[in-house]
Amino acid sequence: MSRFFSTTGLLALFLQFLLLSAVARAQGINPQIYNSTANGYKYYGCYNETTDIAGTSGARALDGGVNEVKPGAMTVEMCQSFCKTGGGNGKFYKYAGLEYARECWCADEILGYSAKFDDALCNLPCEGNSSEVCGGNLKLTVYIAGASRVVGYGVAALAVAVSVGLNLL
Ligand SMILES: *[C@@H]1O[C@H](CO)[C@@H](O)[C@H](O)[C@H]1NC(C)=O
Ligand SMILES: *[C@@H]1O[C@H](CO)[C@@H](O)[C@H](O)[C@H]1NC(C)=O
Ligand SMILES: *[C@@H]1O[C@H](CO)[C@@H](O)[C@H](O)[C@H]1NC(C)=O
Repeated sequence: MSRFFSTTGLLALFLQFLLLSAVARAQGINPQIYNSTANGYKYYGCYNETTDIAGTSGARALDGGVNEVKPGAMTVEMCQSFCKTGGGNGKFYKYAGLEYARECWCADEILGYSAKFDDALCNLPCEGNSSEVCGGNLKLTVYIAGASRVVGYGVAALAVAVSVGLNLL
């Protein structure tokens, strides 16, 4: 073994690798998919934008709802909060999608023309938090209303069942 591959040399290389990984993490070079369901949405997948697909007449993958663009500020949490309140119209949209690092699209349906891609193809860091993935160029990181909404109906149904039951006693 040459002196170049001495234990100290390897240790130095290893430490350098650790340092670079830490810097990369700190800079958010490798943004991660936000998976928390705290806002009532869960991760659904990376979907294609549909504006340039023949037959869609330029329709968006998440069409017919509301949207907002927040250069320098968009995060997944911000978009989910926006879509669960319909951007102020009080509607809880079924889908929330982030695109191009800064756009948020809310809708109740996702166009059938929108192809589902491998997660890795949505890889742009959010402009408001580079640790999180905010879609890609003409690609959307899509979230679907999930668990807490269903639980909400479940609790309501249980409450009705209990009150009906009590009335029957
Ligand atoms: C979220 O889940 C996906 C798999 O669906 C995974 O690839 C990703 O690393 C997770 N994100 C975090 C921050 O753990
Ligand atoms: C993805 O969307 C782009 C833009 O709408 C379109 O040009 C492309 O053909 C789509 N790809 C697939 C696989 O649907
Ligand atoms: C940025 O995103 C990460 C991952 O979702 C989260 O843990 C962190 O709190 C966020 N930072 C800010 C300042 O919101």
